[in-house]
Amino acid sequence: MSSVVRFGVSLENDLLDNFDRLIKLQKYTNRSEAIRDLIRQELLRQAQEEDRDVAGVITYIYDHHQRDLLNKIIEVQHDHQDIIQSSQHIHIDNHNCLEIVAVKGNSGVVAILTNTLKALKGVKHGSASISSIGNAK
Ligand code: NI
Repeated sequence: MSSVVRFGVSLENDLLDNFDRLIKLQKYTNRSEAIRDLIRQELLRQAQEEDRDVAGVITYIYDHHQRDLLNKIIEVQHDHQDIIQSSQHIHIDNHNCLEIVAVKGNSGVVAILTNTLKALKGVKHGSASISSIGNAK
């Protein structure tokens, strides 16, 4: 059996209250057990999604005043030009821009692109709406 590692998690009060309600409903005896199951479920979901042909859109809102963010977004998009079909930029207000990126390709690569964009500092509310267009390889 692999050794157990302890790590701290910081959560907003509201989110923790909701999480505690959820784990009570699902009869978990403690938070660690619930978090372990959530991680396992997500890993399984990701594994099942790998190696499929998918198409869809990635959308995200970002503050274009965030230092270097525009350059980073453009760099990430160029790194994934093989799966990006088109992108649309909408100026929301003085700070915020909305971008819609249409993608087609391998689900694992689409997931990496989505997560990379969402993780950039200054990007908020990133999400992906992706449909499978082929069978698992
Ligand atoms: Ni803009």
